[in-house]
Amino acid sequence: MEGEYIFSSEIETYCQQHSEPETPLLSEIARYTWTTQAYPHMISSYIQGRLLSFISRILKPNCILEIGSFTGYSTLCLAEGLQPAGSLVTIEKNRELEEKLNEFFSKSSNSKQIKLLIGDALRIIPDLQVTPDLIFIDADKEQYPQYLEICLPIMKKGSLLIADNVLWGEKVIHHDSKSNKETHGIIRFNEMMTQKTELSVVMLPIRDGLTLAIRK
Ligand SMILES: C[S@@+](CC[C@H](N)C(=O)[O-])C[C@H]1O[C@@H](n2cnc3c(N)ncnc32)[C@H](O)[C@@H]1O
Repeated sequence: MEGEYIFSSEIETYCQQHSEPETPLLSEIARYTWTTQAYPHMISSYIQGRLLSFISRILKPNCILEIGSFTGYSTLCLAEGLQPAGSLVTIEKNRELEEKLNEFFSKSSNSKQIKLLIGDALRIIPDLQVTPDLIFIDADKEQYPQYLEICLPIMKKGSLLIADNVLWGEKVIHHDSKSNKETHGIIRFNEMMTQKTELSVVMLPIRDGLTLAIRK
């Protein structure tokens, strides 16, 4: 399960009302996700989506790598900042999502720039031959330390890594011997991030926690 949200829904709504609107396609994806998926809360929120888009538009990346597409909401937010000749690779393990993801991506103005790969990111990334300017980690929480280890070598100076759910419903603070593998994965990832001297890191209490790190 994803973590609980840090902000109250009232504050989230207020922020939403004072931020730019999402595209009709993003609204469609959010509606689809909340009405059909068993774990709809895995989708990025409106505000987090706008933030991902904003960061991507500042960075203007040529190459984006996303680990964990789910229903494609964050994929399309990140794609909003791509260079005209840029590309985004998104990796999703759950084959049942493939058809819907392709349908949503085909409706996007960035459709030709998005490549969906179905499978385990840990197996796919080592053979990818990409040097992303922007990486978004948002998949299996137990595997976060491994995602970091396979992403670091493909980052160049100035590449930005964003990791979601780093507060894990505050379980990073309130954990004990009974805590599960996901919680331990996130705690280990957060420790590793502070130990990587090649990264400049900031952790933000946005929604379920978002860490941003630049390769120095
Ligand atoms: C939290 S959801 C992603 C949400 C999406 N990024 C968003 O913001 O709307 C996590 C997704 O990662 C996928 N996943 C989990 N482990 C994975 C792996 N090893 N490789 C690729 N995808 C994985 C899950 O199937 C799930 O759809």
